[in-house]
Amino acid sequence: MLLDLTPDEVLSTTRAVRKRLDLERPVEHEVLAECLRLAQQAPTGSYRQDWHFVVVTDPEVRAGLAELWWRGGEKYLGRIERPEEIPGMMGRVVEGVLHLVDHLREVPVHVIPCIEGRTDGKSALAQASRWGSILPAAWSFMLAARTRGLGTVWTTFHLVHEREAAELLGIPYDEIMQAALIPVAYTVGTDFKPAKRAPLETMVHWDRW
Ligand SMILES: Cc1cc2nc3c(=O)[nH]c(=O)nc-3n(C[C@H](O)[C@H](O)[C@H](O)COP(=O)(O)O)c2cc1C
Repeated sequence: MLLDLTPDEVLSTTRAVRKRLDLERPVEHEVLAECLRLAQQAPTGSYRQDWHFVVVTDPEVRAGLAELWWRGGEKYLGRIERPEEIPGMMGRVVEGVLHLVDHLREVPVHVIPCIEGRTDGKSALAQASRWGSILPAAWSFMLAARTRGLGTVWTTFHLVHEREAAELLGIPYDEIMQAALIPVAYTVGTDFKPAKRAPLETMVHWDRW
């Protein structure tokens, strides 16, 4: 069932959901397939359509990914001594991240968007073309999920151990890059607010920088 949201509401309320994920409610395969079919409508460089999505529901594999995610995040989180004292939005983000550390393995679905071809050490053009061929599709997946009452959050911590994740998932590491790990679950409540952003004029450059 689709939520009653306008396109603008979907675009402005698809938030990073970490604490309001319903860990008990299973996510139907068909709902995930609908979101993935919509993701396939995104563009790819040279119309190559060489994207892949690994959809993980197996609890053991999720536990393995959660372990890699924590080990990857530790580098960033380990430097934070008193998370509860960080002011403002960043404090809330860190609090949410620490919550996800404890619960990622319980999130019913982990989605790993992947793209064919590694760009390690390649030109900006090669990198932009490869990443640009998977990131729009992954974001479309997250928007489609939102309209179906699912919460998601873009994460990259596990990529510190991308090779180990590839082994765990059977991904041919030398040929395929993983772009993210997106936890997916129904949300607790469906009301989300637009985020605070800096004024537009601080980031828009009309005609020239
Ligand atoms: C490229 C990228 C990498 C991110 N990596 C992580 C991550 O590893 N772990 C995590 O909890 N959040 C991660 N995030 C989410 C951000 O920390 C941030 O919370 C989010 O973009 C803000 O969401 P909001 O505007 O809905 O509050 C990532 C986001 C992006 C775009």
